[in-house]
Amino acid sequence: MTTLDLTGRTAIITGASRGIGLATAEAIAAAGGNVVLTSRSQESADAAAAQVGRGALGIAAHATDAEAARRCVESTLETFGSIDILVNNAGTNPAYGPVIDQDHARFAKTFDVNLWAPILWTSLAVEAWMGDNGGSVVNMASIGGLGFEPNLGLYNASKAALIHLTKQMALELSPKIRVNAIAPGVVRTKLAAALWQEHEEQLTATTASGRIGEPGDIASAIVFLASDAASWVTGETMVIDGGQRLGDASEFRREVTARV
Ligand SMILES: NC(=O)c1ccc[n+]([C@@H]2O[C@H](COP(=O)([O-])OP(=O)(O)OC[C@H]3O[C@@H](n4cnc5c(N)ncnc54)[C@H](OP(=O)(O)O)[C@@H]3O)[C@@H](O)[C@H]2O)c1
Repeated sequence: MTTLDLTGRTAIITGASRGIGLATAEAIAAAGGNVVLTSRSQESADAAAAQVGRGALGIAAHATDAEAARRCVESTLETFGSIDILVNNAGTNPAYGPVIDQDHARFAKTFDVNLWAPILWTSLAVEAWMGDNGGSVVNMASIGGLGFEPNLGLYNASKAALIHLTKQMALELSPKIRVNAIAPGVVRTKLAAALWQEHEEQLTATTASGRIGEPGDIASAIVFLASDAASWVTGETMVIDGGQRLGDASEFRREVTARV
């Protein structure tokens, strides 16, 4: 019998001071797991951990700071005794506009945070715990990594690369460690504000599910991938987008009435 119960498991969630990361920490804690939440600021990490409660731990660590990441992994092991789940959630998008208008600084920041950080944190978690004991890694990609959009080319390329990397790492870390990705559609968070704040009505009208995503929609899928219920799932990218990738649902809708 496999369940979504995470009692006795410990998760590190990068970029968990708000949005999808914080919702994920709350969902893993609700499933019985211990959680370590990172942020670039200790104050924000502490505030988020306090919101989760149940002994959650907040640790300041810029996602690309190798020393801070190592200290976070060590503190997690000291406090909870294992690292069974790693959610590589921290992400950034400093580059808006056509790809050829971007500079190296924006390219480097995008790819460092969105692609290098998942490699860094996974390698540390594997070295410290998962290599001997197994575990589940979940990388936060995006439906942008599965298609093409104006102005988001660099960000989307970093997420496409993360989807590829997820499969590569699933092979390299097999059979003890499962590595999967989530590809969310537009979710109500600060990072994506430009995509939904002024367009929510239009998105609601055209999306099959009739709404934009909430952080908890993504968190539920992460709990599944982290749990034993997903023990035969690896190298996969789960699209969680309320049907956004299906196209404009309004063109398909008609009055649905029951035929008695
Ligand atoms: N929202 C969407 O529609 C959407 C869609 C597809 C994919 N995603 C992905 O989902 C992930 C979470 O984003 P979100 O939408 O939840 O955004 P958000 O609400 O703005 O949260 C971003 C989180 O990442 C942290 N963070 C940012 N840069 C960091 C860094 N360099 N090191 C450590 N932490 C960092 C922030 O913490 P501090 O500011 O406290 O450091 C914050 O906790 C990202 O990977 C994003 O690309 C989001």
